Amino acid sequence: MKSVEINYELEKNMEVISQLDDLVGDAVDNVLVDPDECWQPSDFLPDFHNPEVFEEVKLLQKRAEGIPDTVLTSLVGNMITEEALPSYQTYFNLLEGINEERSLLSPSGWVRWSKAWTAEENRHGDLLNKYLYLTGRVDMKAVEQTIHRLLSNGFDPKSESDPYQAMIYTSFQERATKISHVNTGKLADKAGDYVLSRICKTIAGDEARHEKAYKSFMAKIFEIDPSGAMVAFEKMMRKQIVMPAVLMGEGGKRESLYRDFSEITQKVGIYTGWDYARIIQHLVDYWKIEAVTGLNDMASKAQDYLSNLADRYMRLADRMKAPDEVKLAWLK
Ligand SMILES: [Fe+2]
Ligand SMILES: [Fe+2]
Repeated sequence: MKSVEINYELEKNMEVISQLDDLVGDAVDNVLVDPDECWQPSDFLPDFHNPEVFEEVKLLQKRAEGIPDTVLTSLVGNMITEEALPSYQTYFNLLEGINEERSLLSPSGWVRWSKAWTAEENRHGDLLNKYLYLTGRVDMKAVEQTIHRLLSNGFDPKSESDPYQAMIYTSFQERATKISHVNTGKLADKAGDYVLSRICKTIAGDEARHEKAYKSFMAKIFEIDPSGAMVAFEKMMRKQIVMPAVLMGEGGKRESLYRDFSEITQKVGIYTGWDYARIIQHLVDYWKIEAVTGLNDMASKAQDYLSNLADRYMRLADRMKAPDEVKLAWLK
């Protein structure tokens, strides 16, 4: 008879996760926004009911003319990342302890969160995709092929199926996307496209709400199970945070697509090695990692590791040279 190995750590994490169900359900009602009250992509786009719409489109294109190719490529990459959100909803519902009933109609707070959160995210890709299409500067077919490929390739954040590690990952990732959108907005402003700037800032505002929620879920886990939370944080950071769109080029004609895109965001300052280090520091401070007491041995070692981690990445970022030349993608 085949023996089934019980993963006690995962069992415990699942138990803690189920204790958070009400808190998460409250976040759905209080942090996420009802579809009728929420901004929608059409609020930022030309209205095709308007007889003057083609004038509006011309103005949009005029404003977008000044956006540097590197910034536009970064924006396309960010949009593609947002467009792969079916993978994120699937990932979330596959985590242990999140969707015990295996039903998207489950009344559980976690399942409701997974849907309401990704429904908010859906507007990001939708708005950026339409906007970029209207600028007339993007090779839409190439973009669509990348989205298609990324979705078919899937997504592996290396959090295993551990819900603790997933909460670390999403806290980190929401902050990372917020930073990317804020910085893109600043560059759009500088290039004279105030509408795009407003779009990026609005999306960043959503990411900020999501980030706050995920950090609060994780804070609760630290409260209930400090040692388990600490070890999960260490595990996730040792594997490093893999960006969600990392598989965009795999199996395609240009395998280096993701690397090229991240070199550009590094070069123009949309998302850099310093940002990575600063996010770690922020999370370490936010969860008061250095002040947690009563840890077991393994968790104490994790605490030491985490306390110095941001400095190590800062030094690494200082030494990292921005590439002299970058390879553009997706532009006409
Ligand atoms: Fe987003
Ligand atoms: Fe988000």
